[in-house]
Amino acid sequence: MKNVNFVVLAAGKGTRMKSSVPKVLHKLAGRSMLRHVIDATITVGESKKVIVTGHGAEQVRTCTQDHTPEAKIILQQEQLGTAHAVLQARPELQDFDGNLLVLYGDTPFIGPETLAKMTAARATADLVVLGFNAADPGRYGRLITQGDSLKRIVEFKDASAEECAIKLCNSGVMLAKASGLFALLDQVSNDNAAGEYYLTDCVALAQQSGQSAQVVICNEAETLGVNSRIDLAAAEAAFQDRARNDLLENGVTMAAPESVYLSYDTVIGRDATIEQNVVFGPGVTIESGALIRAFSHLEGCHVAEGAVVGPYARLRPGTELAEAAKVGNFVEIKNAEVGEGAKINHLSYVGDATVGAKANLGAGTITCNYDGVMKHRTDIGAGAFIGSNTMLVAPVRIGAQAMTGSGSVITDDVAEGDLALARAKQVNKTGLAIKLFDLFKKRKAKSDLENK
Ligand code: UD1
Ligand code: CA
Repeated sequence: MKNVNFVVLAAGKGTRMKSSVPKVLHKLAGRSMLRHVIDATITVGESKKVIVTGHGAEQVRTCTQDHTPEAKIILQQEQLGTAHAVLQARPELQDFDGNLLVLYGDTPFIGPETLAKMTAARATADLVVLGFNAADPGRYGRLITQGDSLKRIVEFKDASAEECAIKLCNSGVMLAKASGLFALLDQVSNDNAAGEYYLTDCVALAQQSGQSAQVVICNEAETLGVNSRIDLAAAEAAFQDRARNDLLENGVTMAAPESVYLSYDTVIGRDATIEQNVVFGPGVTIESGALIRAFSHLEGCHVAEGAVVGPYARLRPGTELAEAAKVGNFVEIKNAEVGEGAKINHLSYVGDATVGAKANLGAGTITCNYDGVMKHRTDIGAGAFIGSNTMLVAPVRIGAQAMTGSGSVITDDVAEGDLALARAKQVNKTGLAIKLFDLFKKRKAKSDLENK
């Protein structure tokens, strides 16, 4: 459906979150709840997005501008209720004669298919409300229906015992012609148990003025609303469950999927294997057949086919592992390209670097990329061999097929095929160890005697 604009309500305090961060900025699967909501709307079409903010408005504005700069952020000075909140968007939508979809910033999982079902239903109803059958309806608003028609919505606080028994609940998502909706909102009063202007009153008002209202039903999991940290944890668990199942169904092997944590945008190819206790932050792509071993932590990185990561590896943003590269235990990599078949197998830090194909970095290799003020790059050529415990003081280049001796501190470039040794020369003293052992044993015996 073309011609739909969005209003996302995000002004509420979220008191029950007990947080100085506005509720809608709390993160689920690596991005804010608000961004989940905004991204779901993208699939419906290019249209105007108005975000109604209140508590923490500046924080919401800053975060939204990062990912959705075109969104209009408006301020609801006082939070007088959801109807009042939608009305704040009217000046932004003055000359708009299309449809308006109202979403709540604290209801992050509404999917694009569901939004599409709603827009389809607009063909036969003036007002479309998204509902769900709740296992435990709790404090949700109840939908009062008659056949296919939605008669009104009653808020939990105002509901009779009989109405409370209804399991068909309001998700908060509503779709109607913008001008019609604003006209209805003008008539909403705050004469109710909460003393608020309820958006939900629009339904009864629509019916009174001869307009039709209809419910589109979706899965309860989609409409889960977050009001507390307990809800947030439950939402995270629900997301993880779904995302893990999707991966398994798409041919990813996970022996203990319940211990693998994914982000909203994690991409993992067929026949990749993810061992136990792996965490994927945002921005990770793992290609087919890669193996991510236990207890690894990855974010903002790309792992090509057949590469092996971990156990206990950390890949930070900007890491690119080419085919069959190996990154082993207690290795941290940041902003670095690691070439085909290169090996960084143990206890290393590689940051702001290029590692050529088939290069081998010995245990304890460190790229010293930071001088306390600036970051500098390290370039390691193809097939180079970096001896264990080499400090590569950037900026520095190691040529292809070059070597560094173990324990070297490399401050100057090393040409292709050269060996660099940058460490004190070894001196052996014949028999001195035996003499020292004798001396130390005598000293100990003397001190034991004195302390008796
Ligand atoms: C609301 C619905 C309820 C529905 C439930 C689904 C109303 C009156 N009730 O109840 O029927 O079952 O959501 O989760 O709409 N907000 C503002 N400004 C305000 C008030 C709220 O922006 O003045 C925002 C909040 O930040 C939140 C959303 O609107 O994102 C919903 O408000 P909330 O107070 O959480 O409503 P519920 O009581 O959950
Ligand atoms: Ca809510």
